[in-house]
This record gives sequence, C-alpha cells and structure tokens, in this order.
Amino acid sequence: MLPGGFRFGTSTAAYQIEGGATEGGRGPSIWDTFTAEPGRVVDGATGAVACDHFHRVEEDVELMRRLGVEGYRFSIAWPRIQPTGKGEVNAEGLAFYDRLVDTLLDNGIQPMVTLYHWDLPQALEDDGGWLNRATTDHFQEYAAIVGGALADRVEHWIPVNEPNVVTMLGYGNGTHAPGKTLMFEALPVAHHLLLGHGKAAIALRQAGATSVGCANNHAPMWPATDKDADVGATKLFDALWNALFAEPMLFGRYPADLAEIMDMYTHEGDMATIRQPLDFYGVNYYNPHKIGMAAEDAELPWEQLEVLGYPTTDFGWPVVPDGLRELLILMRARYRAALPPIYITESGCSYGMGPDADGVVDDQPRIDYLDSHLRAVAEAVAQGVDVRGYYTWSLLDNFEWAEGFTQRFGLVHVDYDTLVRTPKKSFEWYAAMVAANRVTR
Ligand code: NOJ
Repeated sequence: MLPGGFRFGTSTAAYQIEGGATEGGRGPSIWDTFTAEPGRVVDGATGAVACDHFHRVEEDVELMRRLGVEGYRFSIAWPRIQPTGKGEVNAEGLAFYDRLVDTLLDNGIQPMVTLYHWDLPQALEDDGGWLNRATTDHFQEYAAIVGGALADRVEHWIPVNEPNVVTMLGYGNGTHAPGKTLMFEALPVAHHLLLGHGKAAIALRQAGATSVGCANNHAPMWPATDKDADVGATKLFDALWNALFAEPMLFGRYPADLAEIMDMYTHEGDMATIRQPLDFYGVNYYNPHKIGMAAEDAELPWEQLEVLGYPTTDFGWPVVPDGLRELLILMRARYRAALPPIYITESGCSYGMGPDADGVVDDQPRIDYLDSHLRAVAEAVAQGVDVRGYYTWSLLDNFEWAEGFTQRFGLVHVDYDTLVRTPKKSFEWYAAMVAANRVTR
C-alpha cells in the first residue's frame, strides 16, 4: 500500500514537447544547434515542433484533468525567459508559463517546476556553457526571475534535471548537446551544475519558494562479477553516476574517490552553497547498470554491460522493478538523516505501439511496467523509506533527445504528422489507479 496523500503525477520537459522554437521571443538553445547538425539525432528529428505543446497547452492540461493526476512536473525553457541567458526578461515567455501554472491550478493540478532540463541558451554555450563558472551566476539570476514570477503558486521546485547526464552525455561523451567529448575533462561541468543548483535554490527561496528539491538520475550498480577488477570499476562508476551529485547536495562534500580531482574546481565556500536544505529529493529511475572492468586500451576504466535475464523495453532497457526498491533502500542507507522525503520525479518506459484500426493503443507492457514499479515503491515504503509521490515519464510521446521521435514514453500517443493525441490503454489504467489511490491489478 502506498501512504495516504501519496502524490501521483506525470512529467515532461520543455524542449521535448513545446515546439514553437522561434516563437514568443524564444532564443536559440544548445539543442536547436545540436539537432541541426547532421548525424546527432538518429532520425534527424528536432524539437522545432515536437508535440506543439506551445500551441496546445489547454488541450494537454485537459488530458491531465482527465487523467486525474494531482501533480505535473514540467520544465521552463531558459531561452524563453532570457533569450541570451542573461539580462533582459522576455515578458511573453514568462506569460506562457504564468498561464500554464494558472491553468493547472484551476484544474486541481499542483505544478512541480524544473528550471533546467538541458536547453541552455546558445549564447551562454558560446561563452563556455557549463564549463564556465559564470554560467552559475546567470543561472541564479534566471532562477530569481522565474521564482519572482511563480513562487507564489508553484508547489515544488527543481533547479537542475539529471546533472550527471548533462555532465557525461553532454560534455563527456557528446551524445547530447552541446556534443563535447571531453571525457574526464568534463568534470568541471559537474561542479558548476552543483553550484548552479545551490545558487538557484538560494534565489528561489529568496523569491518565496517553500519547497526546493532536485531530480537526480540514480541507478543501482551491479558488478559484472565479484572479481576485484569488476567491483573496483563498479565502485568508480557508482561514484561518478550516483554519489558525485548526491553527496555534495546532502553532505556538502565530494565522495572520497573523487575529492582530489573535484577539489581542483572548488572555490572556498562552494560546498556550503551547494548544500542547501532540500525539502525533497527527486529520483529519476529507469534501470540498474551492470559494470565491468574495461579492456586495457579502452578510453574509460569501466565498461557498461547488458543486464541480461529481464524483459526489455523498445529502447532495449531492462525492466527491473526491484531495482527501484533496491535503489530506494540503498539511498536511505547511504544518506540516512540527511535524506529528505523522496519523490520519484521520473519513471517510465518506451514502447512504440500506435493506434490500431479502431484507434486503440494497446500498450499492456507499459501498464505492467507502471504497476510493477509502483509495487516496488510500495515495498520500499513498507521497509521504511519515505516516498511521497510518483511522476511517470511521460504524459506525451515526445522528442527523446538523441533518439528523436523513435522512442515513445507517453501515456498519450502523439502522431507527429497530425499532432493528434490519443490516450493509450496505460492512460486509462493510470487514471483508474489514481482514482482508487492504490496499486490495482
Ligand atoms: C530522463 C530525462 O530527464 C528525460 O528527459 C528523458 O526523456 C528520460 N530520461 C528518458 O530517457
């Protein structure tokens, strides 16, 4: 059983759904630049139109009203608020989100707002992006602007979505914008994202925000074997993926294995800035990672291996609901009293099915996925972990970054030619489950 008052929601991000990329005074972001480069996105797709949410806000909120969720996590596009990432505010951009927040509240849906879900204004990237410490000051200014406009009505705030993914995929291996392949030289990005998190949290609170948290991607790390080399490689990857972001936020220090290198980028006072009191800890969970020692001549000292023995989604990701229970128990064991209440800020799966001849989207595997993951949350709660809510990724099929439109995570199918939305069977299932406020089958 999930506790009374448990919050059910859905989750999206601006670049993945909005479109309207050159409308309403929005400036270009690094994802506009990146997607324009041939070969970056598997199907050559861009977020220029995406789900056209920019023009269909009312329709999408109406879908959520029908879904019956009490929470909606979305992100604000920084280049809509400040087209060049600093200075002047684009009032039209702010007005778009102002209306969205009011429409949500009118429908009994509490907003959970992410300030940075990867769409950095291109002008800031031109000055070094997250490699440049100055970006953290611009981020603080942006947070103050958005907080000043919306903190009176937004329930929960998240400064940065998945700083580990930004560091490793955006600046480390280049599969995401801005496409840099700096490997370990990307680590200053991690420090600056953490510092940006802290500075934005301060600005939000000053603006009157009462609940500030985070949304960190976490995964249980499974060593390929119990050989020392595999266990060692797993420990290093665990430190980089999980602890590098959690420990500074919760304890105000870098994990021991990375302290020496991270200290090179840390100025006096930074760790205190990063360690802001958090009202909740957002966990984005998808699947465990299996790690082994890399071959001697490999570029990185670990190798990510396939997790075998489980069904997989259309993305090829293993479906391991118990990994979520394992993760939640592990988080509590690691962070104890420093860990605030947890929200699952993302959890979901990619399955490609579309409407059949009768217009029905039968996505039973997604229902199974959601059901089993909610049961895993309930088990963790029964074992004493304080989990307050579950925001499924995603409301709509949307632009899945380097995978373009080829991976569909939505409860609602989107036809990218007509932009017609068709609620899937999982939508009806989620609606019934939310209505009953319990895990059904
Ligand atoms: C996490 C990211 O926050 C989100 O943007 C992405 O679509 C999902 N993972 C699925 O990959």
